[in-house]
Amino acid sequence: MLRTDLAGVIQRSDYTPPAYLIDTVQLDFDLAPDVTTVTSRLRVHRNPAGPGGDLELVGQGLQLVSLEIDGKPWSGYRTGDEMLTVEAPPQAFELMLVTRCRPQENTSLMGLYVSGGNFFTQCEAEGFRKITYFLDRPDVMATYTVTLRADREAYPVLLANGNLIDKGDLPDGRHFAVWDDPFKKPSYLFALVAGRLVCREDRIVAGDGREKLLQVWVQPQDLDKTEHAMHSLINSIRWDEERFGRVLDLDRFMIVAVSDFNMGAMENKGLNIFNTKYVLADAATATDDDFSNIEAVVGHEYFHNWTGNRVTCRDWFQLSLKEGLTVFRDQEFSADMMGSESGRAVKRIDDVRVLRQAQFPEDAGPMAHPVRPESYVEINNFYTVTVYEKGAEVVRMYQTLLGRDGFRRGMDLYFERHDGQAVTCDDFRAAMADANQRDLTQFGRWYSQAGTPRVTVDAVYDEAARTYTLTLTQRCPKVGVELQDETLVKQPFHIPFAVGLLDRDGRDMALRLAGEASDTSGTAASTTRVLDFTQERQSFTFVDVPHTPMPSLLRGFSAPVIVEHEYTIDELAFLMAHDSDPFNRWEAGQRLATRQLLALVESIQMGQLPSVDSYVLEAFRQVLRDETLDPAFRAQALTLPAESYLGEQMTEIDPAAIHAARQYLRQRLAASLHTEWLAAYHNHRVPGPYQPDAASAGERALKNLALSYLMELSDAGAAQTARTQYDSADNMTDRFAALTALVQRGGAAREGDAAHGPNHAAEALVDFYQRFENEPLAIDKWFALQAMQRGDGSHCVIDAVRALMRHPAFTLKNPNRARSLIFSFCSGNPAQFHAADGSGYRFWAEQVLALDALNPQVAARLARVLDRWRKYTPALRERMRDALQQVAQHKALSKDVREIVEKALA
Ligand code: TRP
Ligand code: ZN
Repeated sequence: MLRTDLAGVIQRSDYTPPAYLIDTVQLDFDLAPDVTTVTSRLRVHRNPAGPGGDLELVGQGLQLVSLEIDGKPWSGYRTGDEMLTVEAPPQAFELMLVTRCRPQENTSLMGLYVSGGNFFTQCEAEGFRKITYFLDRPDVMATYTVTLRADREAYPVLLANGNLIDKGDLPDGRHFAVWDDPFKKPSYLFALVAGRLVCREDRIVAGDGREKLLQVWVQPQDLDKTEHAMHSLINSIRWDEERFGRVLDLDRFMIVAVSDFNMGAMENKGLNIFNTKYVLADAATATDDDFSNIEAVVGHEYFHNWTGNRVTCRDWFQLSLKEGLTVFRDQEFSADMMGSESGRAVKRIDDVRVLRQAQFPEDAGPMAHPVRPESYVEINNFYTVTVYEKGAEVVRMYQTLLGRDGFRRGMDLYFERHDGQAVTCDDFRAAMADANQRDLTQFGRWYSQAGTPRVTVDAVYDEAARTYTLTLTQRCPKVGVELQDETLVKQPFHIPFAVGLLDRDGRDMALRLAGEASDTSGTAASTTRVLDFTQERQSFTFVDVPHTPMPSLLRGFSAPVIVEHEYTIDELAFLMAHDSDPFNRWEAGQRLATRQLLALVESIQMGQLPSVDSYVLEAFRQVLRDETLDPAFRAQALTLPAESYLGEQMTEIDPAAIHAARQYLRQRLAASLHTEWLAAYHNHRVPGPYQPDAASAGERALKNLALSYLMELSDAGAAQTARTQYDSADNMTDRFAALTALVQRGGAAREGDAAHGPNHAAEALVDFYQRFENEPLAIDKWFALQAMQRGDGSHCVIDAVRALMRHPAFTLKNPNRARSLIFSFCSGNPAQFHAADGSGYRFWAEQVLALDALNPQVAARLARVLDRWRKYTPALRERMRDALQQVAQHKALSKDVREIVEKALA
């Protein structure tokens, strides 16, 4: 039995269909910042498949003004505990509710709120209940007609979902607009925006032959930063038509940018609302990463129109049905936009890096949960890297198992069966299985079991028989809430395990498995095979293997697992030099670096002199010199594994030693490859005006990586180079890379130290602030960089962070700003955050509590930083537990933060 002490746990197994259904919703808003009045008219009928009983609507922070049924006051109702119960209503009726809410006071940024003097809404997952009483659950789908009324001067633009069907003036300087959304939708997809905004417009003829109006709405000063978002939107529309045959269904599609926003963006039907960070870009203020993130997020929200909106989730446990699938779609979109095979590989590497750095630790900690969770206290806490990124890996595995065409057949059947419905992850899996006549029963375990499976590989070459046998073993110990379930026995996963075999020259061998005909071309002759690995232990024998091959395992990262295979250093260097699979070439380098770094950590911990294997330096030199490799790929391959990833590889995380080891290796790489770094810096300058395309971005990535390595050496020339690049850059990528190089070298920390020459870092930081004072997104970068700066003996970054919190531009109320300073320090600067004196943890506790009073959703994200406390060295572990307890003891905690800290302490 599942046991938990947390109050208010919602179980997946408790799902019951709604007692009532709502067909149409008519909403009238009288918008004013202090008090907004909402009139809601609902056509309701009893659900024949439901449990019957009273009509129970949910609402939060609402004042009920009146209630009528079929045009007459109705007294049979009661309110209480965020509930409005209408007693014994008729079978079918019209319910009219008038309620009031207070947008100006809403700091949670859920429901209706004010940002920069304009109105916005955020309803996913359960924000609609802060706007009006409703059946606020995704399996209640209705059509909406929305009337907005507001002051014409202050709120000239009035937007809602769907099509504009009427507008005009009202007395007293007010005006109105009426919007009609012809598609049925759950309440979480409702949105409105009202205020002083301007838009960039474009028109395209879509695949259905109809002209579509596209708009990107922003504050007036940002209009010239909307070109890239519009371009990304048009590319997204085209891509979904080509790759999945999905056409934009509305005549109008709008994106609106808002600077106060809890997450990245939201896929409200026809009216996507975005964090400004994922809309606004120009050469001066956005980096290459910003440009590609915007493309990805615009794609993501647009793709939700089919995967999420037309077909939605039955309940919130099915969240990955839309999120995993839509992340997979945006990953594929971005990969296709890269324009080359090598670009696709770079994108894949990026995605896998995120998965390993963030999702693997989540899947090993107290919040570990399956892609389809079994229970939650606060659903906002389950918008996780597991649901999103591991969910995307699960979808990717269908494509790997079924092939691109098979996957497309599955998608077509999914839409054919479920358009207009609210469904489950099992429905998706059934569509994939049925469209391909495959049994995917065992595959379903990816949705029900948490944890990262570990796969060990044994290889035997039989010279006489000319066979090569790979024996794979999988195990996945219980994690997170699974530990409380004594009856649970975990079962093997269905793992698509892609392999290749390299001959002694490093070329791919043609592969044939025992039992396959020798004369078949096609699959049997291919050089990468996807093994259907379904048992706990399973052997695969390749025949006609002329000599001992070098195995290239889990090509392209074909499954979200950890491969435990003891490659020798020589073997890794060989794979790094020859593997035809670019992902595994990168992987070999990462394994080599990880092994070296873990050895360095050990020497540092034992007070020994660290030493670096010359093999490692030579392998990296080869990559840096190899002009046949794309610069973007080289930049990836020469970036050392992140400190968080290294920590996960240890039995006890020692952040200071990890940081010292990584720094030491960076310095050795800087010194021994000095000539090559200099050459790379000078050879990869991009001529001409800034363009954010993948090829130029790759050149800049390698050039700026070279700069960061050059800056590891105490060489005044490098500092001058960085300063010159900072001053003369015509784009944010180069300017910010130069600033980062200057700050990370410690210049900022050593104010006016004559031995270091002019204090370029401090000067450049001042210049950057002045230059971008009126560009909030650039100022976020300024805060984040200082929060993530390295410390040295006398210089503690926590003091700098505390001082920055008093900066006039700092505010906890804006999530981007809070993230840029506080989250960057607590999760982006492990060596400083985990200071031995516990100062980082005390700061963390203070900020979690301060944020919780304003915005529980954001506070709970910060709370998660201490998730892995049990894995740290004993002294740190204790101090972390103290900080967690301090937060847990607080009386007025939100359920968001309470769930996180109580699970961490459990
Ligand atoms: N559904 C959104 C997406 O993935 C994200 C989202 C969920 C969200 N809840 C939110 C965004 C709350 C902002 C606020 O695209
Ligand atoms: Zn999404």
